[in-house]
Amino acid sequence: MYRASHLDGMALVTGASSGIGKAVALELARRGWRVALLARRGDVLDEVARERPDALFAHVCDVTDTAAVQATIAKIIAEHGKISLAFLNVGTYVPEVAAGFDAASVMATFAVNIGGTMACLEPLIAHMKQGGGGQIGVNASVAGYGGLPRSSAYGASKAALINFCASQKFVLDPLNIRMQIVCPGFVRTPLTAKNTFPMPGIIEVEDAGSRICDGFARGGFEITFPRRLSWTLKALNMLPYSLYFPLVARITGQGQS
Ligand SMILES: NC(=O)c1ccc[n+]([C@@H]2O[C@H](COP(=O)([O-])OP(=O)(O)OC[C@H]3O[C@@H](n4cnc5c(N)ncnc54)[C@H](OP(=O)(O)O)[C@@H]3O)[C@@H](O)[C@H]2O)c1
Repeated sequence: MYRASHLDGMALVTGASSGIGKAVALELARRGWRVALLARRGDVLDEVARERPDALFAHVCDVTDTAAVQATIAKIIAEHGKISLAFLNVGTYVPEVAAGFDAASVMATFAVNIGGTMACLEPLIAHMKQGGGGQIGVNASVAGYGGLPRSSAYGASKAALINFCASQKFVLDPLNIRMQIVCPGFVRTPLTAKNTFPMPGIIEVEDAGSRICDGFARGGFEITFPRRLSWTLKALNMLPYSLYFPLVARITGQGQS
């Protein structure tokens, strides 16, 4: 099974202008990779690229624009050669309020988290298939394991990615394309800065970047951390719903009647 090497091609990291994507891109560069960085804010992306001008290359693109994604990935391949590792990390999270349901906000989250990932996958799978293999990590979240309070749009989008990648693994394995799902717990980034609730086991972004790169090198299907949080959530999701709901309500202090 394919294990990407910086000697075999370059890496692509989406959502590389901040947070986990930026940390993974910098860590990959430290480990010898040339990395194409993708995000919408060109000025911020350029600042990241300036940290390692020999290894980091900025490409401005909105992943919800399918045609732009196709053109950008083609440009990256034309300019830098084969992509052997892709980290599809773009994601958005809108904190949900207790009252009121906003379908437009749910669909906007799905468009970025699911649609944006799909837009990148199509040209990447075609490219890797043609090149004889590749490795793709998709950033989901432990929030995708099961329904959590006030995380319905975000959690559902991440659950879709986990299920999608597990299903695609059956198709991609025979093509020598290694599919991996990344399920972090809480990481200190601009995304979690919006949270007003306690975030158990939160880790620093550099630590997350290093753990994700270790996971790429190790090669199992799931990369998840911190173990205590992800195993607790996995265990809760094995319970019958009659136990799951009161336990999660008690742990989070939300949803109790
Ligand atoms: N932080 C956590 O605790 C945590 C936990 C589990 C999973 N995750 C996942 O990790 C990923 C990164 O999150 P983060 O915490 O690092 O958040 P972040 O700092 O807000 O990073 C999000 C990145 O995505 C880019 N982006 C957003 N929309 C985009 C679009 N339409 N097209 C292209 N780029 C876009 C942003 O750059 P521009 O604004 O420049 O486009 C930014 O680089 C997300 O998928 C998130 O769900 C985070």
